[in-house]
Amino acid sequence: MICNARILGLGHFLPDHVVTNADLARVMDTSDEWIQQRTGIRQRRHITADAGPADLALPAAREALRAAGIAAADLDLIVLGTLSPDVDFPSSASLLQRHLGIRGMPVMDVRNQCSGFLYMLATADKFIRTGAARHVLIVGAETHSTGLDFSTAGREVAVIFGDGAGAAVLGPEANPGRGILTTHLHSEGRFAEKLCVEVPNSRDHPRVTADMFGHPGARLFPQMEGRYVFKHAVTRFTEVIHEALAATGHQPADLDLLIPHQANLRISQLVAMGLELPEDKVFNNIERYGNTTAASIPIALHEAVEAGRVHPGALVCLAAFGAGFTWGAALMRW
Ligand code: ACO
Repeated sequence: MICNARILGLGHFLPDHVVTNADLARVMDTSDEWIQQRTGIRQRRHITADAGPADLALPAAREALRAAGIAAADLDLIVLGTLSPDVDFPSSASLLQRHLGIRGMPVMDVRNQCSGFLYMLATADKFIRTGAARHVLIVGAETHSTGLDFSTAGREVAVIFGDGAGAAVLGPEANPGRGILTTHLHSEGRFAEKLCVEVPNSRDHPRVTADMFGHPGARLFPQMEGRYVFKHAVTRFTEVIHEALAATGHQPADLDLLIPHQANLRISQLVAMGLELPEDKVFNNIERYGNTTAASIPIALHEAVEAGRVHPGALVCLAAFGAGFTWGAALMRW
């Protein structure tokens, strides 16, 4: 029997160490004013000890499992989204499975950057709808701070990103009017170089050489054409949200809450303005955590639920845009 998938439980984890804009201004040529004006970010979290995404994912996953009332061993699939995997291989999902002390069920990583959570949600939805899985754990987790250039050469990117993890456990929902109503995914690989990390890569032999790191602007650090990415983000976010609404016969005014991927507060504001959504129908927390990429939507969704912003029956839209370019949206009835 075809059923919908529904989020049964949420969890998130953020490292304790708070890095303010003033902290960054001490190591690079930037200012609290510039960062707040251009991005809305006031602070972000960074790890202080050896912790990869699978380590950050573990407490988030445990919390989501507890909230869902599901034992880890009863999961049928684990998907972990990250752009900062613990190692090239095996997958961070394999490491998370080991951390959870379980075995047997399939696991995989999704490498779709800021759109990772939407890609994972759509995957979980399809597995559950087809009956291939009953309970699916999806976790977005990022350790960005070890991969950023904190010199002035890297300031455009380094001030934006933060570390963290957010998780959701999904299961079947018999009521066709409830749960995930529709998901929409897109990609345009011709823009791959607009936002990327070039090395290490499999084309270079050896894959890592001394000239790749150790100096400002090294190829080892993320490169971004900020303005270009910004403009595409606003257009694609808006398009894909309209697409999800149209697929289910809804209008923007029907939305109770929009949770956009936390890329930049100005992007969220422009998207909300285009959809004519009032401020109280859009959830943002970028000021506290920066852009946590694949983790940003589940962290924000969990905080919104905890803050009482998502009532039973609420129509909630999740939307994301990121490197690739990739983008997507999901509409759910809570
Ligand atoms: N502090 C101070 N000055 C800075 C900083 C900084 N941290 N970064 C850049 N500047 C300077 C630039 O050098 C430039 O100086 P110039 O005028 O002398 O040349 C000036 O500020 C303006 O730079 P712009 O790049 O035009 O600034 P903009 O307003 O575009 O803001 C930003 C930059 C915040 C990066 C913005 O373009 C943005 O948010 N882009 C989208 C990011 C995004 O959404 N990414 C997608 C998700 S990420 C993912 O998928 C992995």
